[in-house]
Amino acid sequence: MRKHCTLITGASGEIGHGLIAKLAEEGDAPIITIDLKPLEPELADRVEQQYLGSILETHLLERILSEYEVVTVFHLAAILSTRAEFTPLTGHQINVEGTLKLLDFAQAEGESHGRAVVFLYPSSIAAYGLPSLEAKAAAGAVRENEWNEPTTMYGCNKLYCEHLGRYYARHYKQLAAETLSGKVDFRAIRFPGLISAATVPSGGTSDYAPEMIHAAARGEAYACFVRPDTRIPFMVMPDAVDALLKLARAEPSRLRQMVYNIAAFNPSAGEIRELVLASFPGADISFRPDLKRQAIVDSWPADVDDGAARSDWGLAPRYDLAAGFGEYLLPRIRERYRR
Ligand code: SER
Repeated sequence: MRKHCTLITGASGEIGHGLIAKLAEEGDAPIITIDLKPLEPELADRVEQQYLGSILETHLLERILSEYEVVTVFHLAAILSTRAEFTPLTGHQINVEGTLKLLDFAQAEGESHGRAVVFLYPSSIAAYGLPSLEAKAAAGAVRENEWNEPTTMYGCNKLYCEHLGRYYARHYKQLAAETLSGKVDFRAIRFPGLISAATVPSGGTSDYAPEMIHAAARGEAYACFVRPDTRIPFMVMPDAVDALLKLARAEPSRLRQMVYNIAAFNPSAGEIRELVLASFPGADISFRPDLKRQAIVDSWPADVDDGAARSDWGLAPRYDLAAGFGEYLLPRIRERYRR
């Protein structure tokens, strides 16, 4: 018979890296993965099976459906916000059509094994779009239903996929004679910028923070592509992974919404530079704003209201900015570049 498992798409990416390690440590269920790129050997050892390929390949998903009872999906595969601006159609294909395929896959799994598949979707702060710096300053900590007018292809994709998730969970084929919805238990987190000690992101627009820190640790000069006063929320990767797992394991009756903001701290780019300099004195960090990427970050909120995540499923990030730097990023990044 088919074996129970957890499926992770985009498993070789930044979040996948931290998630596989944590899930494997906790050993709930075997993990299977889909990615174009093979996993690093140390992660590959922790998964039951890697499928190398694209989430758009129907035969690959069909093969998984025939071999496994997927109980939980972490659908992490995506083209991030900067990259998708250069290839918006491909961005849409991967981010929207890919998500639609995975939702449909989860529906088929749910129908075949009879339980709801918990579907974790990493949405993003990019789902917001504030029209001006004045509006951003006045908005303060934005709630999930405010300012939903993203300016990027990626942000539009994320916002729309939140709606698709709700559709599958609650209204799928609502005119059919029998009820078919309820087989996908869709849960989304709007992530802030994420900072990991283990990986450097590629193709995002919040990348200035992790790039600045990793460049300083490598002893390389860094020209930051946003102004020093630029402010958006961030979180370190262990807290992001914890949040995903907490939401995945939350009692359905506690979840009053499907999409939740989360954040841990929201320094300006200038404040991040100060912290980096305190740890790497003499680091060469300058500001050379790229006005177009700047405009994207300016359209994202300076802060988000994550009260619903805290009260519904116990979001409680361990690391504030100082602890994130001092206790997580610095020791691990130093160790990483010493090797
Ligand atoms: N960090 C992502 C990006 O910059 C947003 O989700 O694209």
